[in-house]
Amino acid sequence: MKVLVTGGLGYIGSHTTVKLLEEGFDVVIIDNLSNSKIDVLDRIEQIAKKRPRFYNFDVQNKESLESVFVSEKPEAIIHFAGFKAVGESCQKPLMYYENNLLSTFALLDMMQKYPKCKNFVFSSSATVYGEPDSVPLTENSPIKQATSPYGQTKIMIEEILTDFSKVQKVNIAILRYFNPIGAHQSGLLGEDPNGLPNNLFPYINKVAVGALPKLNIFGNDYKTCDGTGVRDYIHVLDLAKGHVLALKKLEKDCGLFVCNLGTGKGTSVLELVKAYEKANNIKIPYEFAPRRAGDIDENFAGTEKAKKELGFVCDYTILDACRDGYNFQTQELKRMKDKK
Ligand code: NAD
Ligand code: UD1
Repeated sequence: MKVLVTGGLGYIGSHTTVKLLEEGFDVVIIDNLSNSKIDVLDRIEQIAKKRPRFYNFDVQNKESLESVFVSEKPEAIIHFAGFKAVGESCQKPLMYYENNLLSTFALLDMMQKYPKCKNFVFSSSATVYGEPDSVPLTENSPIKQATSPYGQTKIMIEEILTDFSKVQKVNIAILRYFNPIGAHQSGLLGEDPNGLPNNLFPYINKVAVGALPKLNIFGNDYKTCDGTGVRDYIHVLDLAKGHVLALKKLEKDCGLFVCNLGTGKGTSVLELVKAYEKANNIKIPYEFAPRRAGDIDENFAGTEKAKKELGFVCDYTILDACRDGYNFQTQELKRMKDKK
């Protein structure tokens, strides 16, 4: 099957592309490099021993997009392209609504025009569940009022896809990711945000290699096992596998399919720090800081549906993710130094 991967040079897209190539899928990437580097393409090839075809443009550009549909004739799309920083989305809401919504519209428009492409996988997020009434969160848990424009774009796109699936003969998988962490074992792919990381795991990575002095733990008075926030951290390679399984499900003409991708296990910030220290035999200095606005006590995924309908189970542990994340960050630092 030929798969168009938008945002294929980004964090989750690059790992998924490797997995797709390893599984024998033909992959075409569109990425405008707004949050990724072109080197990732070589690294994908280095790992998978195959080079995906690559187009550098904004998915919103309908002319360029159509030329790719005409020349490549994709049968499926995995749509990762979009902006994802919660804080930035509150500062620049229009930029988020524009990029996340219009890129999706452009792709759905192409699916209408080129019906040979009838499978669509969308990167949604556990953020759509907001503050949970109870955990684990199942796919039937209520969707809550979003606390950021970023979260709102995910809710809106889920609704648009649901309506689209009612009128167009297409198969759509809405995958609600919990917290992806870790990196490829080769140390070639991972998440290395510019500037101060917003998310916990990349922040720990930077502290681990000495690029930042200490971790600030936002709040130690949550209603959790040790007072720090609890989330469901899933290894990015497991997440990548989930996309391949979702494509296989869509191939069976399943229509609309909504599914969590998580481990089913909650881990607190302190537990993650301890795991990181254990996996890598290092110390992560930390300090407690005030709560971050909008944060919730606890969430983790109900995994029954993914297991039953996709055959999805996680292969990697938190310790694996901590080891792989540190390995990537160490290698990345060395690569940066060598470049200078
Ligand atoms: P990322 O920023 O690393 O990857 C996104 C890629 O899309 C980047 O390479 C960027 O250059 C590209 N891109 C953005 N807008 C584009 C456009 N209009 N045209 C072409 N390319 C464009 O992000 P990620 O962590 O890999 O996330 C991928 C998707 O998963 C996003 O939609 C994100 O909202 C969603 N998601 C991520 C997380 C997470 O924790 N990383 C959690 C839940 C959902
Ligand atoms: C965040 C987003 C969510 C998005 C997800 C993936 C918010 C409120 N939510 O989820 O919408 O889908 O990222 O991009 O931003 N923490 C610290 N110190 C830090 C960073 C985080 O203690 O420096 C804590 C947080 O308080 C939280 C946990 O670590 O308890 C995880 O935070 P983070 O990695 O940012 O993910 P989420 O907030 O779960």
